[in-house]
Amino acid sequence: MIRSDDAARAGRELRSRYTPADLSVFTPEEAGRFAPDGRGDPRTNPVLAWELVYRLEPELYDRLVTAELLHPGIVDWLPRMTDRIVEVGAGTGRLTMKLVNRAREVVAVEPAMPLRAILQRKLDEASCGDLVRVVHGFFDELPLPDDYAELVVACSAFTPDPAHGGNAGLAEMERVCMPAGCVAIIWPNNLDWLADNGYRYVRFSGPMSVEFASHEEAVELSQVFYPRAVDEIRRRGLRRVPFDIIGFNPPRDLAFKTLPR
Ligand SMILES: C[S@@+](CC[C@H](N)C(=O)[O-])C[C@H]1O[C@@H](n2cnc3c(N)ncnc32)[C@H](O)[C@@H]1O
Repeated sequence: MIRSDDAARAGRELRSRYTPADLSVFTPEEAGRFAPDGRGDPRTNPVLAWELVYRLEPELYDRLVTAELLHPGIVDWLPRMTDRIVEVGAGTGRLTMKLVNRAREVVAVEPAMPLRAILQRKLDEASCGDLVRVVHGFFDELPLPDDYAELVVACSAFTPDPAHGGNAGLAEMERVCMPAGCVAIIWPNNLDWLADNGYRYVRFSGPMSVEFASHEEAVELSQVFYPRAVDEIRRRGLRRVPFDIIGFNPPRDLAFKTLPR
């Protein structure tokens, strides 16, 4: 059955998919961070629109990140075997699923309940539900003790904006990281800010594309998430879409800090 909300949104790009009325989906904790005083308009604030897609259309979001693969160099760079790893803003597990078997325990912190549900389902389907603990939390309020993990990582989630990390979030990630452990920000969006905070930078080279399951899916998802690329994707009949057509930097880099002993 097609629900009326789904029908109204069909084919619409992210910035015109939701209205201020949709902000009612936020819990009070989420609203306090993402839409203080109940204010904000997802039609003019793309960051807010992303927060709504996580909660209103999580399966659509998961289809996007399933196609938008990380550079394999990133996962190779991360420690191979540790006692504990914490991932913050784990989403539906684009990175989390690669961290399984790299630690005795992985804790995946994710505020959006619908994304946690998809991640838990994937873990259960892969029979690794007991290796990963999926928990609710935010960058600035991690539900974990000091010095908990050797690696504390965020992938496509941390920004200098206090709602999505900021100074308080960075301090929390470092609090939870053990002495001599590593805090890593994958696909960072503000290198100067991270460098000012003592983070070093690594970038992996080579061509990168978004690997959709079919040309039809490339068109459907690009209409929502990469609207400026749709005409070119149609014209070339693409299933695999190079990032230069999409028009933003691919997930091929990270910033990291090794904490003092
Ligand atoms: C672009 S998604 C990336 C998800 C996943 N890490 C991946 O790479 O597919 C951003 C994620 O950050 C989460 N997020 C947003 N604000 C957050 C906050 N203040 N604290 C923790 N996570 C947050 C979102 O719920 C979402 O799962």
